Amino acid sequence: MILLTGATGTIGGHVLRLLTAGDTPSVPVRAMVRDPSRLTPPPGAHVDVVRGDFDEPGSLREALEGVTDLFLATVAGPAVAAHDTAAVEAAEAAGVRRVVKLSAIRVPGVLPRVAEWHAPGERALRESGMAWTLLQPAGFASNSLQWAGAVRAGNPVPNTTGTGRQAVIDPRDVAEAAVAALLSPRGSGHEGRSYVLTGPEPLSVPEQVARIGRLLGPGRDPGCVDVPPAAAAGAMRGAGMSEEFVGAALEGMEMLGDGRGEILGEGVREALGRPARPFDTWVRDHLDAFTGSRTGQR
Ligand SMILES: NC(=O)c1ccc[n+]([C@@H]2O[C@H](COP(=O)([O-])OP(=O)(O)OC[C@H]3O[C@@H](n4cnc5c(N)ncnc54)[C@H](OP(=O)(O)O)[C@@H]3O)[C@@H](O)[C@H]2O)c1
Repeated sequence: MILLTGATGTIGGHVLRLLTAGDTPSVPVRAMVRDPSRLTPPPGAHVDVVRGDFDEPGSLREALEGVTDLFLATVAGPAVAAHDTAAVEAAEAAGVRRVVKLSAIRVPGVLPRVAEWHAPGERALRESGMAWTLLQPAGFASNSLQWAGAVRAGNPVPNTTGTGRQAVIDPRDVAEAAVAALLSPRGSGHEGRSYVLTGPEPLSVPEQVARIGRLLGPGRDPGCVDVPPAAAAGAMRGAGMSEEFVGAALEGMEMLGDGRGEILGEGVREALGRPARPFDTWVRDHLDAFTGSRTGQR
């Protein structure tokens, strides 16, 4: 039995679709969600949906009963460490044999706050008696959906990272790497591996916006407008985000802006034996989100 967490989220949603697709080996799948009404399983999918919360140890214990393999994903933020360590502890106690954890890319020479959030969970897994695989992706291509409103309106996209580039990854590649590890035979090459998952090409925000515009058609590149990080931080505080979260976002903007996020990882090739999907492929498959015909799947 595979237990999916984060199944209402971007990567977990793709993992659920892949594990319950017709051509995937039949394996019992359970999804732990805080609010079962928020999960719409793919049509025809056989999935056991249970209510559970990383912050409620009893619910975690129940969700993990009879589970052999765990996909561990939770929302970005300071709670990652507590969620991960609670899940690892409960998984080991429940007799889980393998954990595939959604983590985040590292930047050489520094420990960004986002990586700090993930470090305790990674450490707990390495020190556990369970087999593990770590997925360390760069920023998701789907983050560009936050620009959809501006692109649809023809307004310039706010840009806090200047010409700094990162090789954003198609979330479907992250999910496929997760599924490859979850379905692999025991003792396979995925165990004890940390996959650095990036797209094939570093792109700045203006370059990504230009790609979206080009694929939409002539005259559809709305361009970008530079937004000082301090102004972006003010807007985040105004939206009620915690200082810890705002600090991490500012750090991320600074690192991407000065080029330190320009990393190419080999994780997709290592995990899946093929190159990562280009950004253009993700955009082509989600063009309707930028035309307003549908909000689209991430
Ligand atoms: N976005 C990026 O560019 C990026 C890049 C690299 C790494 N990452 C990492 O990816 C992870 C986020 O993945 P994602 O974008 O696929 O997720 P997401 O779309 O942000 O969704 C978060 C998921 O976590 C669940 N969750 C939150 N709190 C929970 C709790 N207390 N108990 C149980 N479930 C809880 C949510 O369930 P509910 O439906 O209950 O809210 C939801 O399914 C983060 O750890 C982040 O650091 C993200």
